[in-house]
Amino acid sequence: MPTLLITGGAGFIGSHACCVLLEAGYNLTVLDNFSLGRRQALERVRQLAGPVLGSRLQVLSGDVRDASDLSRAFRLAEPVTAVLHFAGLKAVAESILEPLRYWDVNVTGSLALLEAMRAHGCRTLIFSSSATLYGYPDNVPISETAAVMPINPYGTTKAAVERLLSDLVNSETGWRVACLRYFNPIGAHPSALLGEDPATEPTNLFPILGQVALGRRSHLDVFGTDWPTRDGSGLRDYIHVMDLVEGHRDALEVQLAGEPQLLQLNLGTGLGTTVLELRQAFETASGHSVPWIAKARRAGDAAASIADVSLAQRLLGWRARRGLEQMCVDGWAWLRAGLYRSS
Ligand code: NAD
Ligand code: UD1
Repeated sequence: MPTLLITGGAGFIGSHACCVLLEAGYNLTVLDNFSLGRRQALERVRQLAGPVLGSRLQVLSGDVRDASDLSRAFRLAEPVTAVLHFAGLKAVAESILEPLRYWDVNVTGSLALLEAMRAHGCRTLIFSSSATLYGYPDNVPISETAAVMPINPYGTTKAAVERLLSDLVNSETGWRVACLRYFNPIGAHPSALLGEDPATEPTNLFPILGQVALGRRSHLDVFGTDWPTRDGSGLRDYIHVMDLVEGHRDALEVQLAGEPQLLQLNLGTGLGTTVLELRQAFETASGHSVPWIAKARRAGDAAASIADVSLAQRLLGWRARRGLEQMCVDGWAWLRAGLYRSS
């Protein structure tokens, strides 16, 4: 079976992707600097895969910005059929305070990776992009043809890498690139052995709901109850992390089977859920109350962000299958298992 290089494979989405890709029969080499991800997550990936498939996962500590680390990874995995590039920084508020760090890790890291891919004759890449690059969308659901207008440095770095990839694909033949624009990934592996394990204090809604249900926070601040949505709170397209990573597997298969091309695809469910609806669903799934307080709108938030998923459905034959209840049940089971770093 082909070998894949997985950058950032110890993180939230990368670790779930490793599970699905091992199951699909690939050999995996993970390159991660463990700045945010954890080795334990990869040990659990091995455990879930079992001894035979688990032995096909090798792990290398290294930085995507470092040419010698990249070269070591490519040599170890030779020949690398494709790269899935998850390594990066993703916290919007932090990116506003530290744009240089975000450009360095997200953009310089991607540039170094592309140079290494070229040097080692690998031209197939699945890149973790984000719906954040649409900024304040004019229309919802958002199609891939919507303007790319990021409103924070994190989004700017994702847009810059997408632009770089498009320039590269236009400059020489043979590149197969898929930019997967994630909406709001939540939930966890159904085993409860893997899940989101933020290294710093989370600012995203789903981990905060978990903290309130666990009794680590007294309540949820709801940022805005006056949005033009059905209950006044923000509307988002939450997608189960397992559906998301299955989308990566399918995008990879489509790219490997077809002609070289650049794909830019939304990965979401196409369904909107408000903050208050997600809060209610999480209460039901966890059996714990999640008190909330209405707060002013958070700067930089859009009223609604929902994916038009028709292109991904058509080109990949993929669609998200798990509903909101499953996202909350699996996310809660992961928290209840207590394997996250601050437990
Ligand atoms: P994460 O923080 O859990 O994982 C990122 C991984 O990359 C970690 O294991 C970290 O140690 C590693 N890493 C960071 N810098 C590195 C470097 N310089 N060299 C090598 N490894 C490095 O994040 P995640 O949620 O799994 O996100 C993965 C990717 O998906 C990121 O690129 C992120 O921008 C993108 N994304 C995530 C979301 C989301 O909501 N989680 C949404 C849209 C896009
Ligand atoms: C955020 C990022 C986005 C990133 C995504 C996944 C911003 C502006 N956007 O998306 O770039 O790709 O995370 O990492 O940060 N909410 C509350 N109370 C809270 C937290 C959130 O009411 O304590 C609300 C928000 O106002 C929003 C919804 O919950 O309406 C979802 O927020 P969040 O989980 O932070 O994701 P996004 O803002 O959609």
